[in-house]
Amino acid sequence: MSHHSSTISLRVNGEDRSLTVDNRTTLLDALRDDLDLVGTKKGCDQGQCGACTVLLDGKRAVSCLQFAVGVDGSEVTTVEGIADGDRLHPVQQAFLDFDGYQCGYCTPGQICSAVAVIEEHAAGWPSAATEDVRPEAGAPPLDAAEIRERMSGNLCRCGAHNSIVRAVAQAATMREAENTVSGTEVSA
Ligand code: FES
Ligand code: FES
Repeated sequence: MSHHSSTISLRVNGEDRSLTVDNRTTLLDALRDDLDLVGTKKGCDQGQCGACTVLLDGKRAVSCLQFAVGVDGSEVTTVEGIADGDRLHPVQQAFLDFDGYQCGYCTPGQICSAVAVIEEHAAGWPSAATEDVRPEAGAPPLDAAEIRERMSGNLCRCGAHNSIVRAVAQAATMREAENTVSGTEVSA
C-alpha cells in the first residue's frame, strides 16, 4: 500500500467489506469498480443529477461527492440492498406499478432517494415546499408539490417525473398503512 492509498472498511448492504482504495477514489467509484455494485449509476459525477444516490448511515447522499476514505466505517445501502431478499421494497414495487422509469438510468438513485424521502417526511422534516414549518404544525401531507421538491435532486432525462411522483406517493401511503396496522392494537 502506497501513501496514496488506504484500506477502509464499509458495511455495504449488510456485509462487512474491506478494500484498499486510492485516496482520491469517490465512494461511487469504490462501489462500482472495487465492489462490483454497478446498480449505482454515474450521471454527472459532480453532485447535480442524483443518479449516484445511496443511503449512507441511513441518510441519502450523492456518492460521487464523497471520498471513500472519508466514509470509512460507514454503513452504505445501495439499490442492490433495498429489497428484502426476493421481496421488493414498496418503493421498488411502486416504481414498477406506476412506470416510474423509462431507460432506467436514473432509477437506482431515484429509488434510494425515495426511500429516504419517505422516512424524512415521516420523521417530520420540512422541505422548501412546506408552508408551515413550525414544529407544532407537524408533518405536511406528502402531496405532489412536497414530493417534487424533496425529489428535486434526482433528475430524469427521460422525463418520467410525473410517474415517479405518483410512485413515491403510493409507496408513502403503503408505509403509512403498514405502520397503522402494525402499530395499532386490534380492538374487538
Ligand atoms: S453522478 Fe453523482 S450527482 Fe450525478
Ligand atoms: S428513466 Fe431514463 S433518465 Fe430517468
